[in-house]
Amino acid sequence: MKTYIVGNWKLNFTVGEASIYLHKLLKKVPIIREVEVVIAPGALALQPLSLQIDRHKMKLAAQNGFYRDYGAYTGEVSFNQMRGLVDYAIIGHSERRYIIGEDDKMIGKKVAAAIRNKITPILCIGETESERAFGETADIIRDQLASGLMDVSEEDLGKVIIAYEPVWAISSVKGAKPAAPDDVAEAVKFIRKALSDIYGAKVAENMPILFGGSVNPSNAGAYLTVPGVNGLLMGGSSLILSEFTDIIEIAKRVRS
Ligand code: PGA
Repeated sequence: MKTYIVGNWKLNFTVGEASIYLHKLLKKVPIIREVEVVIAPGALALQPLSLQIDRHKMKLAAQNGFYRDYGAYTGEVSFNQMRGLVDYAIIGHSERRYIIGEDDKMIGKKVAAAIRNKITPILCIGETESERAFGETADIIRDQLASGLMDVSEEDLGKVIIAYEPVWAISSVKGAKPAAPDDVAEAVKFIRKALSDIYGAKVAENMPILFGGSVNPSNAGAYLTVPGVNGLLMGGSSLILSEFTDIIEIAKRVRS
């Protein structure tokens, strides 16, 4: 299995700035077979960047998409419209769940829509600080997995990537604190157990699980060596060229 390094640019960079950043990134990043580097710029930048990117070095991801392919849905962008432009889509990020108000059912439909359009969904799951304090982490993880994968057929389960992002560890959340690698290990173990209970051992073993939340060059190595972690999803560090390229280099070293 490859190691995934995914940069979520969120609502940062104009189209021009995104293009300049990608230009610099392409110069610094070599082709690394074991590491799948993925960047998720804003929706408007996807089309121009899809012409600029070198797909041997890295791939594009959408940060979101709509669950219907076409129709009367003013203002939405469908995965059908992004087909061919992006290889991946981040779905159910906590900012979309808690700021925009997406619910589990909608997220499930988006995962299916991405797969239908040949885009690999990166389904984000993770508990909030209060859910953790109340001991609800396991239930939340299980529920978010079950509803996020609800509309995925058995044969398509192998096309899904999970990103475990405890909301309390995301750098933009007030009072965020990085997760201890032991906490990540425990959560990832639980995710595989929940996947195994619901879909069987084979699905659980083969599904890539990424970790996200305040990842930076000084902790990336520790998270990447947590058993069962297959990559990293990062926001802040992906916006700083030197940090992002350092993390790619760390992933390469961990794999070799
Ligand atoms: P962060 O963001 O790396 O800035 O904590 C992660 C994310 O929100 O995906």
